[in-house]
Amino acid sequence: VTPVRILILGTGDMAKEHAKAFGAMADVEVVGGVDIDPARLAAFTALHKIPHAFPDLEAALAWGAFDAAANVTPDSQHHPTTMRLIAAGKHVFCEKPLATIHGDAVAMADALEAAGLVGMVNLTYRGTPELQKTRALIAEGVVGRIRHVEASYRQSWLVGRHWGDWRTESRWLWRLSEEHGSLGVLGDVGIHILDFLTFATGSTPTAMQARLVTYPKAPGDRIGAYRLDANDGMILSLAFDDGSIGMVQASRTMTGYANRIELRVFGDRGAIEAYHEYPQGAVRVCAGADVDTLTWRPVACPPARPNYDAFIRSVRAGRAEEPGFRRAADLQRILDDARRLATTGDPIGG
Ligand SMILES: NC(=O)c1ccc[n+]([C@@H]2O[C@H](COP(=O)([O-])OP(=O)(O)OC[C@H]3O[C@@H](n4cnc5c(N)ncnc54)[C@H](O)[C@@H]3O)[C@@H](O)[C@H]2O)c1
Repeated sequence: VTPVRILILGTGDMAKEHAKAFGAMADVEVVGGVDIDPARLAAFTALHKIPHAFPDLEAALAWGAFDAAANVTPDSQHHPTTMRLIAAGKHVFCEKPLATIHGDAVAMADALEAAGLVGMVNLTYRGTPELQKTRALIAEGVVGRIRHVEASYRQSWLVGRHWGDWRTESRWLWRLSEEHGSLGVLGDVGIHILDFLTFATGSTPTAMQARLVTYPKAPGDRIGAYRLDANDGMILSLAFDDGSIGMVQASRTMTGYANRIELRVFGDRGAIEAYHEYPQGAVRVCAGADVDTLTWRPVACPPARPNYDAFIRSVRAGRAEEPGFRRAADLQRILDDARRLATTGDPIGG
């Protein structure tokens, strides 16, 4: 078969995963890299043996010898660069969140569909066995009618140095700054946990209360060019179209956890608990007769397909698999609303 030619746009930290995943596929060639940081670009293309390197997207488009782009730029760049790629007739595998505001995400989904191109969004956890198994069990009716949901995404890179030093590395500093187009923890991993929850349950949020917090971290809340104004912690209280309610939390200060996702779904006939913390995870169920004895049983989870494989299959078939741009745009609406609704609450004893 003719290989699918991939351009990697943005050659920072996450781009390594894209280079590894696409580079390992027999029917894919990673033909080029693009970054506005020349040193990073040179090191990246040398390490991954990528033949062509471009200082910006326009130069890559002028060359044009690629079928699809993996957009691994910072969040603020997803919308402008993806719109350019679509206008040039390229398929796009975009990192999350799709955009920084709902309107831009919708424009991206609209443009993609109008151009008849394939687009997917890298909501990574679709590729975890635990999520796929949880969704299947819920769809089979194992928990009955869903009543209550708890979901959390725990990180601690603002506390521990296991992922480097946020005070000095640009990849953490842009994540701390709305001015640099970040939606804080809400956009960075809140999008993952909202997708995880709603994909597993199949339900849609209909009402929400939101609390966001930005911790003081540096003198004047600033480090160099970065104003540290993005949220670091979030709690969403949600109602869903199936009559259930749920709590969703995400934080960069959940000390002792590098990157852990957890979900608990309680129904009127049973319950499921799932977690994933790369490279491991587990699912357990309390259902049927076990409900009366409070007995939980582990469930085996078959391997799931990574988004990278699904995207290449989509390009070949000319039809996007999920998670697509439209799905990501729907999730983006929740992020917009969370920011709009974020409250400090009523004082206790006030
Ligand atoms: N799916 C996941 O689980 C996951 C995990 C980590 C990061 N991400 C996403 O990947 C994206 C990149 O994150 P990262 O941690 O790699 O950040 P990073 O800062 O390490 O890398 C971004 C790179 O893009 C380059 N860049 C910026 N603007 C550009 C432009 N206009 N054209 C070309 N290059 C440009 C920067 O110079 C940098 O090298 C973000 O959107 C992030 O949310 C997703």
